[in-house]
Order: sequence, then structure tokens, then C-alpha cells
Amino acid sequence: MKQKLSINQRLSIADRWDIAAKVWHTDKEIEIIKTLMEHLQISQQSVISDVACGTGFHSINLSNLGHNVIASDIDENNLKIFSKRLYEDDIKNITVFKMDWLKMQSTLFTKVDALMCLGSSITYFESWKEGKHIDSKNRIVGLKNVLHNFKNAVKVNGKVIIGFSRHYPENKNLEIVNFEPIVIEGELLEMKWFLELDWKNFQKKWTCDVRSEHNNYTFDLESHLYTLDEFKSICLTVFDNVEVLDINANYYDLFVVCS
Ligand SMILES: C[S@@+](CC[C@H](N)C(=O)[O-])C[C@H]1O[C@@H](n2cnc3c(N)ncnc32)[C@H](O)[C@@H]1O
Repeated sequence: MKQKLSINQRLSIADRWDIAAKVWHTDKEIEIIKTLMEHLQISQQSVISDVACGTGFHSINLSNLGHNVIASDIDENNLKIFSKRLYEDDIKNITVFKMDWLKMQSTLFTKVDALMCLGSSITYFESWKEGKHIDSKNRIVGLKNVLHNFKNAVKVNGKVIIGFSRHYPENKNLEIVNFEPIVIEGELLEMKWFLELDWKNFQKKWTCDVRSEHNNYTFDLESHLYTLDEFKSICLTVFDNVEVLDINANYYDLFVVCS
């Protein structure tokens, strides 16, 4: 007899990610990005590369601020969802393509004024895949490789802006984050994150659990783990200047700005 697939088996991780992302991305975040761009004096006409575009939240908001956006991501299903959104909303100043930070060719696009890698994405550079187990051996070399590729993609005075999770106190090994329930497309969604931080092996496991009355959309992903000081010092092996900006104490990310 044919077995009925669960919702997590039927939906791609991109579909589930997109549902979860709608719960945590808020209008407040748009204000934070706006303040960040003003603080960094990145003018509205500048060309921005959003290299972890996912299903498009940051790219769309950067385009709403007037920037021309070159959006990319490794996950084709993310790009499909994003491209459909661009078509439906008739958004014209965003170009989307598939790209892996580990094999990035800056010749694919002209050098940009700023490159953004937001949403705590960078630590997943080799692990954005369900069930993918990583060890820490590539943690520093792999990160430096990604940072070099990012550096090559920006103009001489350009900036590389990296979202870095603030929830990394070294004394903790489990953090649970509860979100306010929210109605998305008629479905009341409750979301919880479980962040298992293994400081011995420098690994993080993020379980994202989103529930409604009838559905449970879940995924878990592994990533590398760095302290902020360590992350900064790795950035300094590639860039001359590294600055950490804390735009809003309630926002999940700090911004590490490299130039
Ligand atoms: C945490 S999500 C952030 C998405 C988006 N910035 C947001 O906050 O809604 C991380 C994104 O990084 C992408 N990613 C992970 N590793 C990558 C790689 N090596 N090259 C390109 N994209 C990658 C994933 O596909 C995923 O969309």
C-alpha cells in the first residue's frame, strides 16, 4: 500500500523555509536595514549584491529602498519561489541567479558597491541541506575562501556586510526562541527555534518548528559556530577594516562590515 507522505516530505526545505521566514521577518527589520544603509552611507542608486537571497525578503526590501539588486542563492527552489514573487509583484530592479559562494566567479556580475549576506547565513556555507552533517575541519579555511570571494565581488571602496547572530554566548549549549503567534495566509502559525550550540566541535544545530492547527512544518540544519571575536579575526585576515554594528539590540543579528 502506498504510504501517505508527511507535509515535511511533501514540501521542499525552501517551501518550509519560506513559511518560517514569514513568521520572523517583520516591518521592524525593514527599518533596521534602512538605518543600516543610511549609517553606512550607501546611496539609493548603488548596486547591491544580496548573496543569500533565500526567497527574497532582504532583496525586495533593498529594492524598495531604491537599490538595484543582484540576488543570488545556492538553492534552486528558493530561487523559484523568489522569481515567482518578482513576477507576480512586477518588481523589475532585481536580477536573480544561482550561485555558490564557494565557487563564486566575480566575472558573473560587474563589481558591486556593497555585498550583503544577511540572516546569519554565512555559517551555513557548506551545509544548507537537510541531513547534511559537517565537521569543523573546513570551518576556518572554508570561511576564508568565502570571504575572499565576497571581497573580489565588490568595488575597491565597496563594503561586505555580514549578518552575524548575536545568540552565541559561549556558556550556553541550548537556546530556545519563542515567537509571537501570527496569522499568515489564513493559518495561525506558532514558531519555536531550538539552537544546540556545541562549542567543543564548533557546530550549531538549528531546529525550526512551525505549527498550525493542522500542519507542522519542521526542518533542522547544521552550521559552523564561531565566537564574534574569532569571526572578526578571520575577517581581518582577508579585509583591512572590520567593524561590528549593533543597529538594534532586539534584532537577531549584528552586522559585521568589512572593507
Ligand atoms: C538563513 S537563509 C537566509 C535567507 C535570507 N537572507 C533571509 O534572511 O530570508 C541562508 C541562505 O543562504 C543560502 N546559502 C547557504 N549556503 C550557500 C552557498 N554556499 N552559496 C550560496 N548560498 C548559500 C541558503 O540557500 C539560504 O537561502
